[in-house]
Parts: sequence; C-alpha cells; structure tokens
Amino acid sequence: MSENNKRPETMERITNAELAEAFIDEQIKAIREQVKDQKVLLALSGGVDSSVVAALLIKAIGRQLVCVHVNHGFLRKGEPEQVIQVFRNEMNANLIYVDAVDRFLDKVAGVSDPEQKRHIIGEEFIKVFDEEASKLEGIRFLAQGTIYPDILESERGIKAHHNVGGLPQEMEMELVEPVKLLFKDEVRVVGKALGLPDNMVYRQPFPGPGLAVRCPGAITRDRLEAVRESDAIVREEFAKAGLAGKVWQYFTVVPDFKSTGIKDEVRSFEWPVIVRAINTTDAMAATIEEIDWAVLHRITDRITHEVKGVNRVLYDLTPKPTATIEYE
Ligand code: XMP
Repeated sequence: MSENNKRPETMERITNAELAEAFIDEQIKAIREQVKDQKVLLALSGGVDSSVVAALLIKAIGRQLVCVHVNHGFLRKGEPEQVIQVFRNEMNANLIYVDAVDRFLDKVAGVSDPEQKRHIIGEEFIKVFDEEASKLEGIRFLAQGTIYPDILESERGIKAHHNVGGLPQEMEMELVEPVKLLFKDEVRVVGKALGLPDNMVYRQPFPGPGLAVRCPGAITRDRLEAVRESDAIVREEFAKAGLAGKVWQYFTVVPDFKSTGIKDEVRSFEWPVIVRAINTTDAMAATIEEIDWAVLHRITDRITHEVKGVNRVLYDLTPKPTATIEYE
C-alpha cells in the first residue's frame, strides 16, 4: 500500500462536529493547494460518499467543481430531484444533470442474466460520464468518493470496481480523493458538519446498479416502477414507525412472476412485492429484523392499494447466508 493511501496510526477517529470541522479546514487547504485555479470533475450519485466529497469541494473551490449527476433510471423515488435541489439550488453547485433513463433501459431490455445486467449498467455509466467529460474543456482533475474500506478491500483483492462509477483508467486525470482515509461513520459526521440533509448523510447502503438488482430478470418499465413505488412506501412506513435509523437496510424486490388474486371483486393476475429488512455490522452476514405485525400490515395494505400491478406482499425471512442481501 502506498504511504499516501495509508491511514496514519495517530489519526484520531472523527466522532464529533469539532473534529469534523478541523478535518474540513485541513482538507479545504489541501484541495486548494492541489487544484489551484483548475476545474475538477465529479460523478455525483447522491450517495453518502460522493455527496460529502461534493459538499467539501464546493466549500473549497465553489464552481470550479463540475458535478455530473447521471440518472440511469435505477435511482430511488425522489433521489435525482434531491440531488438537484441540494446541490444546484441550495449550494449553487456547477451541476450537469444527465437524463439517461431511456438509454439505460434500452440497453438492459431483455437481458435476464444478473452479471450481464450489472456489467452493461457499469459500462454504460462510464460511457455516459466519458461523453459528458469530453464536452468540457481542460479538466485535469477527477474527484472521487473513495473511502478507506475501498482502499483496504481493493488491496486485499476483495473488490475492484464494486460500484457503478468506477471510472476508466484512460481518463488520465489526477485524482482528488479527500475522504479516502475515512471510515463510513466518519464520512457521515463530516457530511453532517457540512450541512447536508440527514436523509443524505444517514442513507442506507444502496448498490451502484440500484433498483436494477431489485427487479430480477429482464427489467421492464412497469415492474421497475413497482419496485420504486413500493420502496418509497416501505421507507415512509419504516420512518413513521421509528425504524429508519435502527434497521440497517430495508427495501423491496418485485420478482418476475405473477399470481392470481382478487381486486374489486374481479380476478387479478399480478406481481408480488417482497419486503426485505436486515441487520448487519459489515454486510458479510446478516440477520432478519423482526418487524411488528402492525407495521407489516400497514405496508401490505398500502402497497397492494397504491402500487400498480401488485396483488400480494411477502416478507423475506432469510438470513445471509444462505441468501445474499440483494437478489442479484
Ligand atoms: P450482498 O447482496 O452481496 O450485498 O449481500 C452486501 C451489501 O453490498 C451492497 N451492494 C452493493 N454496494 N455497489 C455497492 O456499493 C454494488 O454494486 C453493490 N451490490 C450490493 C448491498 O446493498 C448490501 O448492503
């Protein structure tokens, strides 16, 4: 491991606002020294790490930072809107919003193999980002939300490009990675100190290919919408029940099969929604959250009445192992 990528043993864990402020001041100085009056490019997904890097760079160099937010169509309900609201409207960021929804959906149409789907989404993301970058002149710096576990895991050969947003080597830009020595909890403390909203800072983990892996098999627009709408309902109901910061990860999956039901006294033939809620410390193994029946009943009632094309709700009781957390 290169010395630059090694967390010094003396580095104090950032656990409070005061330590976060000190870190922010130090990084602002370092960023200004590194990039001077040049422009910096950042792929801003809206996840915790890239959002914190964006907020930090905006504070350091303002509109010299160019953020590119690619909407690949697999984001959660309200996410692209929130990225625009927080960064463009509230922080006055130089933000390019790319609506690539049709492009991605066309690419994965009819593709049912999970690995192939992930691969296509990752490749297409790089292509879209590359196209945007080549429209901009003279950008020499690329900012990334690399965090310390990413460095440790790639050293150990566990993951190379786990995320969509792993960018091509040949872009030949100098990297700006201000949070690369921080652990996730520290990134959140810094994000909070930078004034990012709680639902961004305390966001649950979300796979790079997003809702695509929760719409198993070949993705169709209507089934993807059922995933997005049911996910929003589960998030709302978990928040109302006080479970939001308590359960590690929760989401819905809409499998590619239909079953018979009855709606308004007429036969229906529609998809089920699977609700999954797990707890873990490191995502290597996970247990099932024992959700109150009352909460599950409310979720079932709302999903079956509000989400188009759905007539059943199932709760996934499987720990990891034998299941993984995601379905693909
Ligand atoms: P699995 O399904 O492997 O998931 O048990 C473990 C954790 O990793 C998240 N996950 C991803 N995170 N990019 C990410 O940043 C990805 O491609 C990806 N795939 C899975 C998953 O949500 C869970 O928290």
